Amino acid sequence: MNTFSIQPINIPGQQHYAQSIFPQVIHCSDADASLPDAAQWVRKNAPRLLTEATRDGAMLLRGFPVSTAEDFDTIVAALELPNFPYHKSLSNAVRINRTERVFSANEAPPEVQIFFHHEMAQTPLFPRWIFFSCEIAAEQGGATPLCRSDVLLEKLEMQCPAFVKTCEQKGLRYTNVMPGDNDAKSGMGRSWKSTLGVEHQADAENRLRELNYKWEWLANNCLKATTPALPAVIKLNDGRRVFFNQLIAAFCGWKDSRNDPSKAICHGDGTPLDTDAVKVAIKLSEELAFDLNWQAGDVVIVDNMVTMHARRTFSGTRKVLASLASMESNDFKLHDQA
Ligand code: FE2
Repeated sequence: MNTFSIQPINIPGQQHYAQSIFPQVIHCSDADASLPDAAQWVRKNAPRLLTEATRDGAMLLRGFPVSTAEDFDTIVAALELPNFPYHKSLSNAVRINRTERVFSANEAPPEVQIFFHHEMAQTPLFPRWIFFSCEIAAEQGGATPLCRSDVLLEKLEMQCPAFVKTCEQKGLRYTNVMPGDNDAKSGMGRSWKSTLGVEHQADAENRLRELNYKWEWLANNCLKATTPALPAVIKLNDGRRVFFNQLIAAFCGWKDSRNDPSKAICHGDGTPLDTDAVKVAIKLSEELAFDLNWQAGDVVIVDNMVTMHARRTFSGTRKVLASLASMESNDFKLHDQA
C-alpha cells in the first residue's frame, strides 16, 4: 500500500460525551493521496470505522480524494456492507440514482427545509447506515444537521416522561398522500408507482396489503396511505435507547399541496400526540444539533439507528449525495422491536 496518512482532527461545534466525540473527524492531509489508496485504507479499517461510527453516532472523513459520485461509491463499497437500494425503499423523497449505490440526497428545492428524522423510520424497511458525500457545497446554508437520538431521548424523558412512555407503548402511525407521478418540488413528492415499485392501482393495493398499510384513492390519481403502528423508541444491542422515528419531520415538514402535517402522524392506536411534548422534542433536537457545514469531498458515515439527520435551506447550487446500507444480520427488524 502506498502512503495514506490520516489523523483525527477537531472542528468547531463537535460535542463531547463521556465515551465519544460527535461527530468524530478523520482528516487526510496528503494532497497526493489516490482513490485506490483511500479505498484500500477504508477496507482495512472498516470494522473500526463502523464500530466507532456507532459509538459516536457519526464519523466525518475530510480531505479524502473523493470528488465524484463514482469516487463516493468506491469508498462506500470499501466498507463491504450490503447495499440498500433506493428503488426498493419506501422513502417519500424524490431521488436520482447516480451509480448503483449512490443517489442524490433529496431533489427538493433549496427553500424546503427537511426536519430531523431517522432515515425511513416511517416505514417498516429502513437502512442501518446512511452515508453522505458533498460534491458541491452551497454558497450559503445547506448544512446537514445531525442529532444524537439517544441523548435526545434521555433529555425528552426527563422533561416529558408520560409522552415517552406513551410513544413506547403505542408506537406511531404515519399517513401521507403520494402523487401519481413524481413531484420534485416537494420533499415528499415520490409517486406511489415509484414508492411501491408498481404501475397499476391493483398492484399498489397488493403491495400495501403485504405491508399491512391502510389506503384510500383520492382525486388526481393520488394515494393516501397509512402505516401500521411502528415503534417510536428502539433499544439498541448496546443497551442505548433511541428516539427512532420520523415524528419531528412528519409534524413539522410533511407539508405540500397534498399533505397537511397535522394529519401526518398519530399514535399507533389512532390517538393524537401531545403537541406540547412534540414541541419539546423539536426544541431539544435543535439544541443538540451539530450542523455539518460541508466541504467538497467530505464523506460522512452515519449510524441511522443512533443519529438523526436533517437539511438546512440553502442558496446556490448544492449537491450532496447519499448511499444506504443494511446490516448483514438485519438485527433491527421491526417485528422484533414492536
Ligand atoms: Fe433523510
